[in-house]
Amino acid sequence: MMHTFEFIGVTHDIDSTLIVEEKWLFACHADDVPENGGVCVKSNQEQIAVFNFARRGEWFATQNLCPHKQQMVLSRGMIGSTGDQCEPKVACPFHKKTFSLVTGKCLSGDEYQIKTYPVKINDGKVYIQVE
Ligand code: FES
Repeated sequence: MMHTFEFIGVTHDIDSTLIVEEKWLFACHADDVPENGGVCVKSNQEQIAVFNFARRGEWFATQNLCPHKQQMVLSRGMIGSTGDQCEPKVACPFHKKTFSLVTGKCLSGDEYQIKTYPVKINDGKVYIQVE
């Protein structure tokens, strides 16, 4: 399943001198993402994997590109938790290299790093924060 982002911007006027702008992109409807699974959404520049980690009651987003063999597959990866800290992770469906859904660090002992994005759910819609 592939979705296309719509852009929404939220600007916060912190005080008269500082303006913080958050860019949240509407990615898809929450119902579009299977429980304990993921979907791929597409922005202009890249594909992003969105995960509904229902067992933890959390949502995550990462780049969809697996850096091992440059495959657009992470949204189809198996998600789970690992280690003493129960780090949430995704395993690439190709060669099972795993990545933290929080930090993007490769947990399989390789030097790979993937991008992660903040996610929020609002009114049944999934938004991803970019830059
Ligand atoms: S392509 Fe993802 S682990 Fe090899």
